[in-house]
Amino acid sequence: MVMTTDASAAVCPHCGGTGWRLVDEDGTQVARRCECAESTRREQLLEQAGIPERYRHCTLDSFELWNAEDPTLGRAKRAVEEFVDLYPESGKGLLLMGAVGTGKTHLAVAALNALIADKGVRGRFADFTTLVLEIQMTFDGSGSSRDILRPLIAADVLVLDELGAGKVTPWVMDLLYYLVNSRYVHNRLTIFTTNYSDFAHTAGQETLTDRVSARIRSRLFENCRRLELRGGDYRRFRLAEASERSTP
Ligand SMILES: Nc1ncnc2c1ncn2[C@@H]1O[C@H](COP(=O)(O)OP(=O)(O)OP(=O)(O)O)[C@@H](O)[C@H]1O
Ligand SMILES: [Mg+2]
Ligand SMILES: [Zn+2]
Repeated sequence: MVMTTDASAAVCPHCGGTGWRLVDEDGTQVARRCECAESTRREQLLEQAGIPERYRHCTLDSFELWNAEDPTLGRAKRAVEEFVDLYPESGKGLLLMGAVGTGKTHLAVAALNALIADKGVRGRFADFTTLVLEIQMTFDGSGSSRDILRPLIAADVLVLDELGAGKVTPWVMDLLYYLVNSRYVHNRLTIFTTNYSDFAHTAGQETLTDRVSARIRSRLFENCRRLELRGGDYRRFRLAEASERSTP
């Protein structure tokens, strides 16, 4: 049944709003799901995915290869396209690594949007810092961390944005390992983004392993294709462009 709250909303001319229509197959009438029901389902999936407002517009088409000197942009975009095309046979998840503003979240959300729109995948977006805070708030017994983690474990595809951000206690780290490992053992694919690198470029700089423990990092090695974005900050590029246009 297709629900419409607005009385003036048009009723689907193919099924009259039932979500089913009779089609003729080899001389026999059979009931099939109407396309309108499928598009309603995809809208619901999109709603349930929890993609933050400011990233909803992110698509693969809108991801520009703006820096001709940076081969990692095109490489990452192609890898994400391949991941989407091959899904559910993509094999591995993705680990998008790179500095601020290089387009990691854009690409991760673009993959999620495409998988929902094209393949009806049950996807979820979670921001690492928010997740850590939510788990920490259950510490006083006011809620259950399992309830927070359950939908993230169950999602067909999960985007875990900003892995390693924020301060994580060993107790929360154990629960995050439980999340990452549960998805791993169920063969569910995850797209991670992180600002942290595998190598310390300056003395004392923290690596991803320092931030999320060797246990979690080693799971990602097994289960993710690593994509490094080495180019610059897209936000700065846009700002520079805008100021160039405004100066005569
Ligand atoms: N190649 C690109 N083409 C078009 N838009 C881009 C591109 N790269 C980034 N953007 C846009 O720039 C903004 C910043 O990108 P994004 O948030 O994906 O960066 P990030 O790598 O996740 O940065 P952070 O480390 O701060 O989270 C977003 O609005 C995004 O849509
Ligand atoms: Mg980001
Ligand atoms: Zn219909």
